[in-house]
Amino acid sequence: MLLSDTLKQLLNILADGEFHSGTELAQQLAISRSAIWKQLQALEDLGVDLIAITGKGYRLQQPLQLLNQQTVISQLSPVTQTLVQQLEIHDVIDSTNRHLLEQARQGAASGTVCVAEYQTAGRGRRGRQWVSPFGHNLYLSILWHYQDGPASIAGLSLALGVAVVRALKQLGIEEVGLKWPNDIYCQQRKLAGILVEVSGESSGPCHAVIGLGLNFYLSPQQAETIEQAWIDIASVLGENAHQHRNHLLALLLNQLMPVIAEFESKGLSYFVDEWRSYDCLKGQAASLYIGENRFDGTIVGIDDNGLIQLADEKGQIRSYASGEVSFRAS
Ligand code: BTN
Repeated sequence: MLLSDTLKQLLNILADGEFHSGTELAQQLAISRSAIWKQLQALEDLGVDLIAITGKGYRLQQPLQLLNQQTVISQLSPVTQTLVQQLEIHDVIDSTNRHLLEQARQGAASGTVCVAEYQTAGRGRRGRQWVSPFGHNLYLSILWHYQDGPASIAGLSLALGVAVVRALKQLGIEEVGLKWPNDIYCQQRKLAGILVEVSGESSGPCHAVIGLGLNFYLSPQQAETIEQAWIDIASVLGENAHQHRNHLLALLLNQLMPVIAEFESKGLSYFVDEWRSYDCLKGQAASLYIGENRFDGTIVGIDDNGLIQLADEKGQIRSYASGEVSFRAS
């Protein structure tokens, strides 16, 4: 869905985070003040936090930078430009992952990329919702077709985590790490998450939709439903963080696309040492939850296949292929 031109214009004026009076907005958009009020209401319906002060006007709680296709494309590396077939930017979508899974069924090519300003039904791992308010975060999905079945891309999600860490470091975020299997952590809180959805024959060709959700700015109200400890880029980089939104999207694509395109030939072994260097669970007391079962121990790291290794109180090490890890006070 596309926002109306008027709403886009209004957002572009308010994006600076400064106060704008109702009269000024009405003049600039050549509509009545009551029409402005309706447009502001529509912004609030999208989850945009507005502050209204009598005598001053309206401003966004946090300034924002809208996504811009040309700005992003102009910052893509030559290799990434050859790998990205199409860059779709949606104002509003249910889920960028769901959209690309549907596009794949209709024959969309490898390298179709979908980003959105707002997701009405963003999905996270384990059936969770991914909180996706308008304009502040990144919601990115990439479609890729693989020759062999899903087994040929086992470990892809770990390699993707490595790519995201590389991009964040290029932006100057140094304190970034990975929490198995592919959560991106900063200061012991979740900054971004990856959801890979694979579809196709078990032994034949398959396609993967790689979804990344990254918190740029979340207001306390927006974050109310998030059960895990979270962090956003604004808390790390300060008040001008929003100015890097298109740039970070380009950095992410520059790192993710080659990893996605080459994973089948390179395999996890190519990335595993780098993954280990970003491991923020290693040596930590933690609990691993698999269904109803809970295993306590100390995280040893990941094995060469990307399985997590947990040492129990007797020092016996076991590897696990799935589960949810949570830190424990030691
Ligand atoms: C996680 O739970 O850690 C994974 C979150 C993945 C969220 C992203 S946002 C873009 C893409 N579209 C979705 O619906 N989900 C993924």
